[in-house]
Amino acid sequence: PARGPQRPSKAALGGGERKLRSQLWFDNPDNPGMTALYLERYLNFGLTREELMSGKPIIGIAQTGSDLSPCNRHHLDLAKRVREGITAAGGVCFEFPVHPIQETGKRPTASLDRNLAYLGLVELLYGYPLDGVVLTTGCDKTTPACIMAAATVNIPAIVLSGGPMLNGYWKGELSGSGTIVWKSRERLAAGEIDYNEFIDIVASSAPSVGHCNTMGTASTMNGLAEALGMSLPGCAAIPAPYRERGQIAYETGKRAVQMVWEDLKPSDILTREAFENAIVVNSAIGGSTNAPIHINAIARHIGVKLTVEDWEKVGHKVPLIANVQPAGHYLCEEYHRAGGIPAVVNELMKKRLIHENALTVNGRTMGENCRNRPVQDHDVIYPIDKPMMKDAGFIVLKGNLFDNAVMKTSVISDEFRNRYLSNPKDPEAFEGRAIVFDGPEDYHHRIDDPKLKIDENCMLFMRGAGPIGYPGAAEVVNMQPPAALIKKGIHSLPCIGDGRQSGTSGSPSILNASPEAAAGGGLALLKTGDRVRIDLRKGTADILISDEELAKRRADLQKRGGYKYPESQTPWQEIQRSMVDQLGAGMVLKPAVKYQDVAHT
Ligand code: FES
Ligand code: MG
Repeated sequence: PARGPQRPSKAALGGGERKLRSQLWFDNPDNPGMTALYLERYLNFGLTREELMSGKPIIGIAQTGSDLSPCNRHHLDLAKRVREGITAAGGVCFEFPVHPIQETGKRPTASLDRNLAYLGLVELLYGYPLDGVVLTTGCDKTTPACIMAAATVNIPAIVLSGGPMLNGYWKGELSGSGTIVWKSRERLAAGEIDYNEFIDIVASSAPSVGHCNTMGTASTMNGLAEALGMSLPGCAAIPAPYRERGQIAYETGKRAVQMVWEDLKPSDILTREAFENAIVVNSAIGGSTNAPIHINAIARHIGVKLTVEDWEKVGHKVPLIANVQPAGHYLCEEYHRAGGIPAVVNELMKKRLIHENALTVNGRTMGENCRNRPVQDHDVIYPIDKPMMKDAGFIVLKGNLFDNAVMKTSVISDEFRNRYLSNPKDPEAFEGRAIVFDGPEDYHHRIDDPKLKIDENCMLFMRGAGPIGYPGAAEVVNMQPPAALIKKGIHSLPCIGDGRQSGTSGSPSILNASPEAAAGGGLALLKTGDRVRIDLRKGTADILISDEELAKRRADLQKRGGYKYPESQTPWQEIQRSMVDQLGAGMVLKPAVKYQDVAHT
């Protein structure tokens, strides 16, 4: 069907029966009193009765940018182009703020606020006269928060990414968001640079407006929004300052109006096939370990069955083809010029790894969108036949330590592989002595304590860092070894924990462990000095003690009243702790999941 900007004829809309949702507010002759009240205040800044009462689609711009969230601040400007697109297509625009989330600025952790922003946006989309919405996304949690809310309410919704920052450079070398922090803090610990140089190096990675320019959680989640079919093709990777960013903002606004006329809703797009496409793309781009948390959350709110085990089943055998930090070399400017998500999907389609019939927001399928978008630079996006790494997706481990935890195989370095995974008698498995930390503060206090006798045969454990223990789940599992070991050339030890880690980290940690210690998971029973065995082939992670000893420790823990964690500091911390699910299950608010398709109830 033609997808022009004009309002379709009444016949095309089913004989004129269909009224837009906003008309219940603005043009409802059955209830003149309420209609007048709903209407009058929106006139006070210059809107006309004609705009509000003539049945034009009212399109929200869910604005995530503000001075508090610099990664998304650029959306304050982009919204002008969105508005012009909405108007050009015959819609009326209502822009409104979303609870700001700044990944690096929010204490105790930004992910505490993902569900808060979600709740707020659900109320706005449900309770105000909106027929469709443009979701402005960028910094890590803003993307899932917005899509989760659109999934719950189920009005036509389209994602507009803000785009990554331009490349950062330090002394002629690429310096990528986050990744440069993890590298430079090792140099700081080793005494190679001082505090001031450390800060200058890190600052060099942020040369312009936009979100992280590595394949961290921001670029991952915007890329996966596109892979889900929720944004126009090519949207995710366009750097924030490029002219194409303004252009796609305009096109996104236009398209939002047309989606309302077509009644193209999140539930039409967010199908099981779309989620499998997102998992496959995540492996191919070396995406963030935060992706399973957020994508599983979106699936739960739209009512599609998706488990953390699906990430291994669907995603593990997929090769890594995007040569972008932290799994690769380049940053998002090169990645965009090489073709971004459509080019990645184009390669994946050659191996039939994509559900090509999955519908996307432009009304066309994923296959139609990506078939004619070949890779422009094979040094940045490798050919699927000659990938950077085979079988590069996540693996999911379980055992007496936890029911599930995720490991990102695409960032296993040669150093790590040689030291831990190359025993010919016991390939892909390693054992070590556990060093246990209760939260990031405990780690910082004790990591360099010589009494712990940490050597290369140790594994570092972080517990008390999950959604309940450290409200929202802290990004702290990628623990640096003690400075003394780094000076000896040992840059990483196996790290395991019930918290998360930054998507910009190149550490092959075993993380997102569920249930967390604070929810009674096996990590709560672990003691420093225990031997632990990890077997990647079998997918197991176990403390090597008898079942009797394990049962005794559990009984002792229960006698002590369970695993202790700090008090809540704010009302929201307490409220979320009382109802949040575990990382493996998307860290959603459990009572929220049953509310689906709420715009139609
Ligand atoms: Fe906001 Fe990375 S800190 S995108
Ligand atoms: Mg992060």
